[in-house]
Amino acid sequence: MTVRAEASPSLALVKYWGKAPGGVNLPATPSLAVTLDGLRTVTRVSESDIDRVVVGGEEQPLDAYRPVLTAVRARARADAPLLVESSNSFPTAAGIASSSSGFAALALALDAFHNLGLSRAELSSLARLGSGSASRAVFGGFTAWAAGAESAEPILPADHWPELRLLVAVIRAGRKPVASRAGMRATADSSPIYRAWCEASPALFDRARRALERRDLEALGEAMRESYLFMFSTMFTTRPPFIYWLPESLAVIHAAERLRTDGVPVWETMDAGPQVKLLTTSEHAAAVRSAVIAAVPDASIIESRPGGEPEVSRG
Ligand code: PMV
Repeated sequence: MTVRAEASPSLALVKYWGKAPGGVNLPATPSLAVTLDGLRTVTRVSESDIDRVVVGGEEQPLDAYRPVLTAVRARARADAPLLVESSNSFPTAAGIASSSSGFAALALALDAFHNLGLSRAELSSLARLGSGSASRAVFGGFTAWAAGAESAEPILPADHWPELRLLVAVIRAGRKPVASRAGMRATADSSPIYRAWCEASPALFDRARRALERRDLEALGEAMRESYLFMFSTMFTTRPPFIYWLPESLAVIHAAERLRTDGVPVWETMDAGPQVKLLTTSEHAAAVRSAVIAAVPDASIIESRPGGEPEVSRG
């Protein structure tokens, strides 16, 4: 039997960066996110002679997958070896949240494979064991994940704001140099502003959530910008510092700044990689695209919108 699950990545508007003590991947900060329609991870789970995980045709070390596999096996009281085959319609491990959609699809596929019938909250908690942001990607639309919470929750459907657009400017598609898990640990251990980041995040989350609820793009964009810039400030002040940004990332940040000066509503955010994600509306997406390409001619742009309901099928 083969089970197939599809999930889309969760892009944080307000970031999770840092872990709360105790538990696995419990967040130190609340995050607010949108699931990106059109970008997909497809994961198939089937019987095998030995456990194997293959992503984009490449055999993976099993360590990262063990917590999810072990938790599911305990629930299912089953220990048959499995083959997990996964592919992404967008660059992997490059800061486009492929781990969020990857572990969300894995949790959904394993649940279906073992006929566990887990609730969405349980699936969210299961996906979190692989990657924190995956707790949000088991849902489509807009999601929230409270500090210290074992699972994320859906807060608004995708059609709450259908004209919202998220443009992902792919600067460099290679694997990121510092995994988010190691980066978070180093930041918490040595950044002198880590505590300030954790203290400031709840207010940013509240501001962004209220702005999202009333579809106030400017207020949402400003809170989103403050969140990512504060998050990166913790990395820049970590000992030793680490910098995911490339010169082209900064060129896109400045292009967005110029667009805003010219009255185009666009705000940017970034994650653990050099790509820049831009929040705007359908009306302004073409202008944003041209400005990004003018600033970084080699960038490729993936245009997305809120959506990304997961799907599971058999056969
Ligand atoms: O879930 P992880 O371990 O890939 O960490 C995600 C961290 C950020 O993408 C930078 C922020 C977020 O909330 O998704």
